[in-house]
Amino acid sequence: MIGSLSFAVLVSRVFGLADPRTYGSNNPGATNVLRSGNKAAAALTLLGDAIKGWLAVFLAESFAPQLGLTQSDIALVALAVVVGHMWPVFFRFKGGKGVATAAGVLFALNIWVGLATLLVWMIVTLLLRISSLSALCAAMASPVVAYRFIGHTETVAVVAIIAALLIYRHKRNIIGLLSGKESRIGQRVK
Ligand code: G3P
Repeated sequence: MIGSLSFAVLVSRVFGLADPRTYGSNNPGATNVLRSGNKAAAALTLLGDAIKGWLAVFLAESFAPQLGLTQSDIALVALAVVVGHMWPVFFRFKGGKGVATAAGVLFALNIWVGLATLLVWMIVTLLLRISSLSALCAAMASPVVAYRFIGHTETVAVVAIIAALLIYRHKRNIIGLLSGKESRIGQRVK
């Protein structure tokens, strides 16, 4: 339910912007909101989507003793919040690609996994400025980093599943990348 709160749609409504599902890549995510030209709305979308991922896992971790949750249960909560973002119950199951939410989840699972994955994202972004490519590279790195810093088998498996879902949600971007048509970060829609 927390994952299903689409901040791209909600923030755009508050700012009086067009629905991000109707322009650019049609994706309700921070990268597409940035195509509206409103940097504050894009930043808030990024923050909101990341914080909800972090919050779901943080709550599960915090209440684990009372609820009798195991590390594997917490990993499933991490998967659930990303799935909620991708297929939101409040928005006819048409959600985003899960990059910011997955980042929040990784930071909550293990700060080093979050930081290392963010570093991969930042390096690719600084070099190429293509949001989807940065996300795909970070996603591919995340299970390796999780294996190194977390180790717990089910959690690493969940991180790998999240990465696979994220890559699947980028299938149109992958076609765009292969045909050289993928837009750079901050390019506005005409
Ligand atoms: O965060 C989503 C990003 O990786 C791609 O977004 O709008 O370019 O499809 P978009």
